[in-house]
Amino acid sequence: MLDLFADAEPWQEPLAPGAVILRRFALSRAAVLFDGINAIEAVSPFRHMITPGGYTMSVAMTNCGTLGWSTDEHGYLYSRYDPVTGKPWPPMPSVFERLCHDAAAAAGYSGFHPDACLINRYAVGAKLSLHQDKDEPDLRAPIVSVSLGLPAIFQFGGARRSDPLKRLMLEHGDVVVWGGESRLFYHGIQPLKPGFHSQSGAFRFNLTFRQATYSE
Ligand code: SIN
Ligand code: FE2
Repeated sequence: MLDLFADAEPWQEPLAPGAVILRRFALSRAAVLFDGINAIEAVSPFRHMITPGGYTMSVAMTNCGTLGWSTDEHGYLYSRYDPVTGKPWPPMPSVFERLCHDAAAAAGYSGFHPDACLINRYAVGAKLSLHQDKDEPDLRAPIVSVSLGLPAIFQFGGARRSDPLKRLMLEHGDVVVWGGESRLFYHGIQPLKPGFHSQSGAFRFNLTFRQATYSE
């Protein structure tokens, strides 16, 4: 049977200065990305972290790569060791690294080599309040954010929390890249709606790639 969408090329949508949505860019690699998530989760399981304000996050998180992001009652930090297992975070699978590199290049950020990948898992109702990604010392490197599984509404604002927000649906395979002028722009994810996805079941997953060290 003829599948009209099988050969559809990814397309780009400008989001803000320095920011672009690469629609379906990760679609053809989704199955191997899920294999990678399963292998990582078997070593460093998903957990609900505590914010410095004492709240338990609704999004479950784990990491892969040299450095992993976490939060506890003392603050946010990047560390080489998973505080739950006491072992190093699982290495970043080469398919993750390549996808991130290719997406960054397609968005105009050539030569991006992430050393940290935060993996977010959203169940029904899970959300990420408006925030900036600002725990990285080298703000010349962009953020590459990959959506897998159930769709969610992404909010993207400006440099100030009070700036107007764009609301966009991020779907399976979409990649958002932001850097340059928009590197510190506020963003968040609205509460996940119930649904079922053939590859992720009742969940949405997000891979956020970052460079967490200063590069000379
Ligand atoms: C994040 O801002 O860290 C994650 C965004 C997303 O889940 O798409
Ligand atoms: Fe973020």
